[in-house]
Amino acid sequence: MTKTKTAVIVLAAGLGTRMKSDIVKVMHPLAGRPMVAHLMDTVGGIEPDDVAVVVGDVVGDVSEAVVPYPVVQQKERLGTAHAVLQARDTIGDFSGDVLVLYGDTPLVTLDTLDAMLDARASDIDPAVVVLGFTPADAGDYGRLILAEDGSLESIVEAKEATPEQLGVDLCNSGVMAIDGKVLWDLLDRVGNDNAKNEYYLTDIIALARGDGRTCVVVEADEDELIGINSRVDLAEAEAILQDRLRLDAMNNGVTMTDPTTVFLSHDTKLGQDVSIGPNVFFGPVVDVADGATINAFCHLEGASIGAGATVGPFARLRPGAKVGETARVGNFVEIKNSVLDTGAKVNHLTYIGDAEIGAGANIGAGTITCNYDGFFKSKTIIGKGAFIGSNTALVAPVTIGDGAVVGAGSTISKDVTDDALGVTRADMLQVEGWAAKNREKKLAEKAKKNKK
Ligand code: UD1
Ligand code: CA
Repeated sequence: MTKTKTAVIVLAAGLGTRMKSDIVKVMHPLAGRPMVAHLMDTVGGIEPDDVAVVVGDVVGDVSEAVVPYPVVQQKERLGTAHAVLQARDTIGDFSGDVLVLYGDTPLVTLDTLDAMLDARASDIDPAVVVLGFTPADAGDYGRLILAEDGSLESIVEAKEATPEQLGVDLCNSGVMAIDGKVLWDLLDRVGNDNAKNEYYLTDIIALARGDGRTCVVVEADEDELIGINSRVDLAEAEAILQDRLRLDAMNNGVTMTDPTTVFLSHDTKLGQDVSIGPNVFFGPVVDVADGATINAFCHLEGASIGAGATVGPFARLRPGAKVGETARVGNFVEIKNSVLDTGAKVNHLTYIGDAEIGAGANIGAGTITCNYDGFFKSKTIIGKGAFIGSNTALVAPVTIGDGAVVGAGSTISKDVTDDALGVTRADMLQVEGWAAKNREKKLAEKAKKNKK
């Protein structure tokens, strides 16, 4: 049997008024990227023959987020049926299955879409397969009204529903698999005589039934069908997605002491036997190799961490931080655009920016690479096995040679050669007995004062 062709139309033109935002709704991020980008990833999984993303005025951002798929513009937002019609020129006459997805319902899974396409291919040949769910709170979702035989009779929007219909728990997720042969004809017949004066996609169910065709419901879990209309929904969707990402990580061999406090990005890569403490935040583009440990309260973004390395607690790795194998980054250390070679140690209270730190080097507490002079950034290079004493300022550009030692408290603005000692420190002055004499004198003054 040859596979039925599939076209996908993603509706993403809605204003998202309830978000109260200058950002188009589908561009609000989940796990570090626009919600619509998550959906497009899933769309890619079904290997569609044709795709059109229906967008509103602000085309630019959305078209970037949905690359490589083409966008079509819906100039006026006249409703979901009208939105689907905008894809007519792109999709054309299409005899296969047309999947309609909503950009604000981005968590739907590939398995569920496959189940819908399977239902479309069943012997009863339904005109429309609707993805239904039973949310904890049916709220504003459209209600799925079933016929006695269990097939779908119609979809009623909450605004139009009778009290009895509002009592129905089974709701419309918005996702539909439609017989391409009848789609455009059904849409041409949808009117806008309703509470919102919109052309409702949901009306095609009753129209198809009127034509003698069957429509059916496939059900899925609320967790993949939440429709994001407000910031509260956005936070709920984020929580669902984070749960999925954590589960995936743990199933792939990552230990999380308290998973619910670990925040992952859609692209976080965690190797086997990585161990993550509580309250760790992963921004975009972080890669952690096998056996590395990220202790509690770390903030990582654009960083790569080598096998067996240890980071934190309380470390901040910013974009371009590359922590080598078995290297150690300790508490209150910030690293940006720098490479820490194998086994290097930066354990306490330090800023490393625009630097290269050689293998096995030890950077003492309170070391600062002074990488910025207010105008330009400069580089600090520290050789392998070098030792930087505590409370040192390394004024870049500067190079510390292999095996060199920098004395604590130094301000280093010239290069230190291999195996040399570099130290800038005023000579110590010691006055024998001074402290004892001072103590006597002060105690005497105090006694005199108290007598008065
Ligand atoms: C819609 C469904 C409702 C369903 C719910 C699921 C209709 C009439 N109602 O309601 O049955 O329970 O989704 O979340 O379909 N859009 C456009 N152009 C438009 C209007 C909407 O592209 O002119 C897009 C939006 O960007 C959004 C999607 O279509 O991605 C749904 O639109 P929205 O206005 O959020 O519909 P709901 O009221 O949530
Ligand atoms: Ca919606």
